[in-house]
Amino acid sequence: MPVNGQGRLELRELSKALQEYVSSPTVVLLQAGDLNIGAFDPFDELIPIAHEYGAWVHIDGAFGLWSAASPKYQHLLKGVEQANSWATDGHKWLNVPYDCGYAFVADSKAHRASMSHRASYLIHDDDARDQIDWNPEWSRRGRGVATYAAIRQLGKQGVADLIERTCQYAHTLVTRIGALPGAQLVWEPQINQGLVRFLNAKPDATDADHDRRTDSVIANILESGEAFFGGTTWQGKRCMRVSVCNWQTNNVDVERAVNAVQLALAS
Ligand SMILES: Cc1ncc(COP(=O)(O)O)c(C=O)c1O
Repeated sequence: MPVNGQGRLELRELSKALQEYVSSPTVVLLQAGDLNIGAFDPFDELIPIAHEYGAWVHIDGAFGLWSAASPKYQHLLKGVEQANSWATDGHKWLNVPYDCGYAFVADSKAHRASMSHRASYLIHDDDARDQIDWNPEWSRRGRGVATYAAIRQLGKQGVADLIERTCQYAHTLVTRIGALPGAQLVWEPQINQGLVRFLNAKPDATDADHDRRTDSVIANILESGEAFFGGTTWQGKRCMRVSVCNWQTNNVDVERAVNAVQLALAS
């Protein structure tokens, strides 16, 4: 669906689409932290209208939902509690190994009905919560252990510190890289994601020249082995994604990464 300049879906657009699909079962997927600019949809405006049309509202909060742990960023999630379901990942901002994704479904009857299986050879105990009633798999390893351990070790404050620290580093990286000669700040992070672009110095350079320059500077940075940044296309332009989520990142890493970009620009 089309989004505005802030990457947010507007009420007008959603209403139009809901009217169009009014007779079909509808899922409205909203975003808590998109992967280019960390955009959050205005949940408090959009969820009530989606519910008026009988739609199920799901939130992709792969990393953005974690912002709710910080008093500084939780306003971005205003109204998110009205959604029918959320998904988020531990293997992003919580820094646990891959394969730790979580789904939260407000209607536990609907959740259970869509996952539960019965077979004559299985034994069920009505008194205990049985994971086969709530997950796609019947057999799986103890995936929850890493998540439990990380949350237990960090505590509420530790998770908030992790969020705030990485957002601060992302902001420093984007603003410092964006201020380097030959670089352009494209998106100043509101959480831990931002964008920069590298410009071709030719006076008659086109957007395609700047795109090529951006990809070649990214390749130079990767070649140096000093930092990892990925490329992306945002609003039709090649950009470098700056995304910070590693708990170990510190001021020295930020300094090294900015220096690596400076060197890559010079080569
Ligand atoms: C916003 C968002 N949603 C979903 C995904 C997919 O995540 P996964 O397949 O690891 O759960 C990503 C991965 O980068 C993401 O950034």
